[in-house]
Amino acid sequence: MKKIYILFIMALLFAISCSTEKKENLIDLNIPWKFKAGDNMAWVAPSFDDSKWVTILPNKIWEDQGFEKLDGFAWYRIRFLLPSSLKEKSLMKDSIQFLLGRIDDCDQVFLNGEMIGQNARTQAIKKAPGNEFIKEQGIWNTERRYVLNVNDERIMWDKENVIAVRVYDQNGAGGMFSKPFAVSMVSFGDYVKFDFTKNTFVFRNDNFISRKFTIENRSGKDDFSGILSLNVISYSTGAVLFHKDTALKLARNSKTETGFSFQTDPSKPSSAEIIFKENLSGQSVTENMELPYILTPAEKKEPRINGARVFGVRPWSPFLFKVAATGEVPLKYSAKDLPEGLTIDSINGLITGALKKKGEYLVNLTVKNISGTATRNLKIVCGNTLSLTPPLGWNSWNCWGLSVSDEKIRQSAEAMKSSGLIDHGWTYINIDDGWEYMHDKDGKILTNSKFPNMYTLCSYVHSLGLKIGIYSSPGPKTCGGYEGSYTFEEKDAEAYAAWGIDYLKYDWCSYGNIAPNPTKAQLKHPYQVMKKAIRKVNRDIHYSLCQYGMGKVWEWGAEVDGNSWRTTGDIEDTWESLSGIGFSQGKCSPYSAPGRWNDPDMLVVGWVGWGPALHYSRLTPSEQYTHISLWSLLSSPLLIGCDLSQLDAFTLNLLTNDEVIAVNQDPLGKQATRAKANESYEVWVKDLEDGSKAIGLFNLTEKPLNVPVDMKDIKLKGRWNMRDIWRQTDLGAVEKHFEMNVLPHGVMLIKVIQN
Ligand code: GAL
Repeated sequence: MKKIYILFIMALLFAISCSTEKKENLIDLNIPWKFKAGDNMAWVAPSFDDSKWVTILPNKIWEDQGFEKLDGFAWYRIRFLLPSSLKEKSLMKDSIQFLLGRIDDCDQVFLNGEMIGQNARTQAIKKAPGNEFIKEQGIWNTERRYVLNVNDERIMWDKENVIAVRVYDQNGAGGMFSKPFAVSMVSFGDYVKFDFTKNTFVFRNDNFISRKFTIENRSGKDDFSGILSLNVISYSTGAVLFHKDTALKLARNSKTETGFSFQTDPSKPSSAEIIFKENLSGQSVTENMELPYILTPAEKKEPRINGARVFGVRPWSPFLFKVAATGEVPLKYSAKDLPEGLTIDSINGLITGALKKKGEYLVNLTVKNISGTATRNLKIVCGNTLSLTPPLGWNSWNCWGLSVSDEKIRQSAEAMKSSGLIDHGWTYINIDDGWEYMHDKDGKILTNSKFPNMYTLCSYVHSLGLKIGIYSSPGPKTCGGYEGSYTFEEKDAEAYAAWGIDYLKYDWCSYGNIAPNPTKAQLKHPYQVMKKAIRKVNRDIHYSLCQYGMGKVWEWGAEVDGNSWRTTGDIEDTWESLSGIGFSQGKCSPYSAPGRWNDPDMLVVGWVGWGPALHYSRLTPSEQYTHISLWSLLSSPLLIGCDLSQLDAFTLNLLTNDEVIAVNQDPLGKQATRAKANESYEVWVKDLEDGSKAIGLFNLTEKPLNVPVDMKDIKLKGRWNMRDIWRQTDLGAVEKHFEMNVLPHGVMLIKVIQN
């Protein structure tokens, strides 16, 4: 039995944040609640008999607990004893808080029959019957923390209390979820909060790493003086690599900007513990965070050809393929056996022209520089199917939301080129919602003032060697309330082709008003209409269906000639969202094929925010490695969602690993399947064209974990050579069994090749 040992051993607790409040100082409400769909204000009464209601856990959306189709109102209720010892034991005795995780979409919370708080978003308010639901506005995915003074008459000390939560959900996921669920006294840790999202780590060439952050003192009454300490701890040895104390005063109701800087080896994973300890009470707040670690090896001077090895095009369509290559510049590009109608630009590697005849053409690419020569085959398939490998690109939504503009698209395209992403195969610059104005009297779609001239914008993006995408809805309005394509499909497709559009994301949105409870045929219909329209124009347009997976779209997306289809609702930059979406893609695996990709939504790495304000992705570095690895195994479209003009060193390194991208772009086009899983880990395997397999070992826990794999778990016999794909190093051979130590929420992505 051969074991591959351990990249990192160790035992550092990984937790996003913790306060010093002990367990006995809170009432745990992460227990079954009573639940009922519907709406009745009589359900607020503490005396109401809810014993016949079903039970439900608060930490999971209701769809995951047997209420798949539920939209609209539902109620949660819980009873608990509130002992006065809770406040007596607490150092701070002013306020009590009710922590109710997060609630999708909006809520009103009642304590003993009286409302103590509410949160809603505009759209949900408008839709709620009678429009009476909540005046205050909020974001659904926000912490539900309702605070009362300890003397508030609604609280029943030393008696039974009843919390009733009235929830309204618009569509998709609904109800209470996330954590924490508890009642506790407001303590020091609730007043003093770190915020790391406004800045990220900055690497200097001499291995110094720094990060700015803010500390907020939310107390309106107290100033706090204390010591801010930083400990950098090695993942592999547990040793403290760096320690520093700084005296700090936090005035009441203030935000203090501070930061740290220290020297570290960025290839060795470590974590930072940041503690603020208050002088008088001795209480402290602590944040543990994983430090970014760099896995992708530095680019070599010698040329290397990257990106897709197979490319689909339709006869007569304008041809645009950029040979992606790295190496010391200048690079000189050439191609042998290019079919008639195509030429290659030796300086920028762009293959352009048009093919007249259907067929397969094997082209031999060469890239040369002062240090050497690289060659590789490119298979061009001229036929009906586009996107023979998953699209690689960028989309404006996860950073700019509806604030996208011509200027931001140009900046993004320029950054795609200047950052070098283009040299690793990244191709599309996609405009999401927010560009549309209205159809004129001739039915021509007009752009709004943020997009003065779509044709010149498209031409500019093409001139950089990139492709450009656009967004619309089959409904009269898009999800952002802009003009959709309903009844103007042909005109819109003609406009897209005239502008030079290469990719269309077609988002269901208000089509829900036209087909409120759609049958399978109704789900397909609007996509068939647009399919006819875009396939009629003389331009290859990747057709991306977006309807969040309704009616198991993966089973019929190919039938409406979709090149990719969203399988889920919108992703967010949290572990819950990422892992919830990513690890539930197994059901779609059999339907993925070249030109027909399952799309679990765009990447949430780097500076994201759904515009205009951005924050740094809340995913830890290991979670981001999981994100890119899993999406690559799943053969998903890889659409970067961050502001490309602010790419930090970590994100750029994450997005430029050619061996990882090659897993995503593998010409066989097979999506990985889950080979093995339990509560702590998942193992996914993807067949590759050359007979090798890419294997992802994922740690779902918050501690480093040994993930064991028997070769029979992944149906392999014989002797296989293993390679660490991120680090691009060989690991030796394996026959029966191997184990790998994987970081919290992290991944080991390996390739096994028959020996
Ligand atoms: C959502 C879609 C998002 C984004 C948004 C635009 O429905 O899932 O990815 O396109 O609409 O309004």
